[in-house]
Amino acid sequence: MFFVLKLTVFFLVVSNIGVTTQGKDVDFTCYGFGGAKLSLDGIAQITSNGLLRLTTDTKQTIGHAFYTNPIHFLNHSSTGSTSVLSFSTTFVFAILSQYSDLSGHGMAFVIAPTRGLPGAFASDYLGLFNYTDNGKLTNHVFSVELDTVRSALFNDINDNHVGIDMNGLQSVASTPAYYFENIGRPVNLTLVSGQAMRVWVDYDGVHKHLNVTLAPINVSKPALPLLSKLLDLSPIMEESMFVGFSASTGSVPTSHYVLGWSFKLNGKAKELDISQLPKLPHKRRKPAILTIWLPIIASALLLVIVVGTLIMVRRKVKYEEVLEDWELDYGPHRFKYKDLYMATEGFKHNELVGIGGFGKVYRGVLPISKIEVAVKKISHDSKQGMKEFVAEIVSVGQLRHRNLVPLLGYCRRKGELLLVYEFMPNGSLDKFLFDSSMPKLNWVQRFRIIRGVASALFYLHEECDQVVLHRDVKSANVLLDGEMNGRLGDFGLAKLHDRGTDPQITQVVGTMGYLAPELSRTGLPNPSTDVFGFGAFTLEVICGRRPIDPRASSAEEQILVDWVFSCKRKGTILETVDPNMGIKYAEMNEMELVLNLGLLCSHCDPTERPTMRQVVQYLEGELPLPDLSSLGLLASGMTSADREGFLEVLNLSYPSSTQKKKTLSSPLVSGLVLSGGR
Ligand SMILES: *[C@@H]1O[C@H](CO)[C@@H](O)[C@H](O)[C@H]1NC(C)=O
Ligand SMILES: *[C@@H]1O[C@H](CO)[C@@H](O)[C@H](O)[C@H]1NC(C)=O
Repeated sequence: MFFVLKLTVFFLVVSNIGVTTQGKDVDFTCYGFGGAKLSLDGIAQITSNGLLRLTTDTKQTIGHAFYTNPIHFLNHSSTGSTSVLSFSTTFVFAILSQYSDLSGHGMAFVIAPTRGLPGAFASDYLGLFNYTDNGKLTNHVFSVELDTVRSALFNDINDNHVGIDMNGLQSVASTPAYYFENIGRPVNLTLVSGQAMRVWVDYDGVHKHLNVTLAPINVSKPALPLLSKLLDLSPIMEESMFVGFSASTGSVPTSHYVLGWSFKLNGKAKELDISQLPKLPHKRRKPAILTIWLPIIASALLLVIVVGTLIMVRRKVKYEEVLEDWELDYGPHRFKYKDLYMATEGFKHNELVGIGGFGKVYRGVLPISKIEVAVKKISHDSKQGMKEFVAEIVSVGQLRHRNLVPLLGYCRRKGELLLVYEFMPNGSLDKFLFDSSMPKLNWVQRFRIIRGVASALFYLHEECDQVVLHRDVKSANVLLDGEMNGRLGDFGLAKLHDRGTDPQITQVVGTMGYLAPELSRTGLPNPSTDVFGFGAFTLEVICGRRPIDPRASSAEEQILVDWVFSCKRKGTILETVDPNMGIKYAEMNEMELVLNLGLLCSHCDPTERPTMRQVVQYLEGELPLPDLSSLGLLASGMTSADREGFLEVLNLSYPSSTQKKKTLSSPLVSGLVLSGGR
């Protein structure tokens, strides 16, 4: 904390009387700056222990400190010529960035025509110039910069260099910061390290030569300078100049200290005795991670949390399902919507395998068990009756028969019910019957399918605990498993239609052409209405035609059962067999049996139809089929009233054009003929 300012008496005298002639040697040495003749501006301060602190931890600021007295570098000889006097200076500085891993801006030793540098900018401009005056010859500013930021603006070589500047920040000479060890080996220095370092600036006015030397504080002046340049300072120098320091900060708060300074005009500045220098503050530098990265990381984290929450909310909405207390008992039969969503890849269109009367069917693979399933999406709007329906679905789901498509479970969502079935790789039977691109089934396959469906219906009607009516037996509801076994699907679903309607009047459920005629009157399904549907299905499979085919070649053939019956009466029943199948002699008996059984099941008098138990027995050959001609009732039982009822139903199914109505009315004639044949 010493301050020694030595001015020769001569200088004091000259200075005081303001004479600006040569021979006024300025010579001072400062160990700390308490009480020194310094002009400070910006945020420059002298600390309590005498350090000159040009800047402190403030962003975008400037600090200047100039030796208060002017210095007269110009020497006017008696011959009228003017030269610049030699000078030498040495100072100890330290630059501390607030963050150990981020660099602030640097500082400079300056010779300027004023004690401050008005209009100068902070950051890259080091408090020396601004963008309008930078580089102008009228500045008359010489500086040695200790720059810790690479400014592309001034073609800086790196972010740790020493440069000689004349009137601007584009250095006339610059070099990375290093010093030469005694043996001549260069050792790099980091200006912003916070370590005190020493700089020597020596100008030889005679040879117009400038040397700048840098070394760590504990190293005496290296023999080799860092920068050595022929330089004429005469364009810079005005009659009276000021020497001092300038520093600036940018976005990274940085402190610039000068610990000691000695200067001599016309001679060699006194070497500083480092033991006399004030101590630098022991500042713990915060790693940038805390003050800069932490907020960034924190906001990134916040963003992640917000985005994550949004995603989770979206997921929750996406996978939202309805689960009520009463459903908890159905544990194993309840599927998670998310699992079904994953299984069907979000109910993707190309997983759609069918659109049925109840809804769309998607193929899928369950995520964990990898079981292949078919998911049927049924939209429903009423909550009412859902509990009963689900109870029924679950109980139906417990039914197991090798000719039923296993119902694995269900899932509920708002407005949606999803039923999960075992996937049947070969799809529905109607494709094989009516799609010309599909391979044709032979008799053995068809017969097995018919027997399979019969045994499934028998199981539903009689063998399981409750009587389950299918109510929609048709080829589209028969699926084929991997071995081409027919499996009845959609059982129990018909109940879905009943819900919400007057329980006294049950809606007619099923598909036109498979509906027993009495249904149109009574609307009451019973096992024999399923038998009627089975009859229509049987004829469909064996003839390869739909029960009602408005496009059939002749009016007679439009209603399949009528056509088969009329052929039977003509004794040509086998002509109704699907021509795609071909008839083998050995199969003729079976075919005839099945055709007759189909007719019997299609009897319009429900009491005349066999039960499913009998159907199975006929098909297995355990019971002989009654002789239809002896019955004769088939025709007589079909009263014209029944026929009309039947046709009303038909017309309902094709109500769009009168043309069709007309065509469809023609079977009425055949029906009359049929009934007239008794
Ligand atoms: C730049 O500094 C000069 C003084 O050297 C001043 O007159 C001028 O207004 C400053 N320019 C700006 C843009 O501040
Ligand atoms: C010293 O710094 C220079 C450039 O600044 C670099 O090329 C060199 O590798 C450094 N040397 C050592 C030993 O770090």
